[in-house]
Amino acid sequence: MTTADGQHESKRLALGVLASGTGTNFDAIAAAIDDGRLQADIAVLICNRTEAKVLAKAKTRGIHCLLIPHAEFPDRETFDTAVADALEAAGTELVVLAGFDRIVTAALLDRFTNRMVNIHPALLPAFKGTDAQAQAADYGVAIAGATVHFVDEHMDHGPIIVQAAVPVAPGEDAHTVQQRILAQEHRIYPYAIQLFAEGRLRVDGRNVVIDGRPAPDDSALISPPIPW
Ligand code: GAR
Repeated sequence: MTTADGQHESKRLALGVLASGTGTNFDAIAAAIDDGRLQADIAVLICNRTEAKVLAKAKTRGIHCLLIPHAEFPDRETFDTAVADALEAAGTELVVLAGFDRIVTAALLDRFTNRMVNIHPALLPAFKGTDAQAQAADYGVAIAGATVHFVDEHMDHGPIIVQAAVPVAPGEDAHTVQQRILAQEHRIYPYAIQLFAEGRLRVDGRNVVIDGRPAPDDSALISPPIPW
């Protein structure tokens, strides 16, 4: 695309964000767009819960938002079809699940194959499902974390794009662990979406190959830190 002053402008990725709750990941993505880290636009926010705080966050930012309450649909498939129709009507290229609390069926997934991502507050494949941070704290892990992954037909299962790890001390409550993980979610989710926007992600079986990815170094997160 060429702007009025003749400058070349690269095409921006159109995001359709699905959220059900507080919306801090939604806000982190919107902030990354605002400060230029993420070359994308949020074409639509779709929320399935009337009381969700994310709705006010979207309105404050002037982002097009739709309330589609799942409870008004007879089954998952008709709800997912309505959501897919709304995403397509908004021109969505990548679907971003940001604290979306519904299981996604083929009625939605098949229309966005390898074009739907999710963030989960655990180092998958550990602690799938709800209350992942509490599951990790209760289990007594020394390292917890977050995962951004492509969505496939199984819950919290698709190919992994980026993970972040955080230390956990014995006896820390789930809220403390949750906040520590959340801070990293807000870093890795915009980054993973930007990798997609740049066309740098290729799914190869269970692997996501990142074009231009630096080789891993040998540093490690060790919890507790070794003092010598
Ligand atoms: C986030 O911690 C996200 O990882 C989690 O819900 C929270 C939403 O917070 N998602 C899941 O547990 C999905 N299985 P937010 O509304 O503040 O972004």
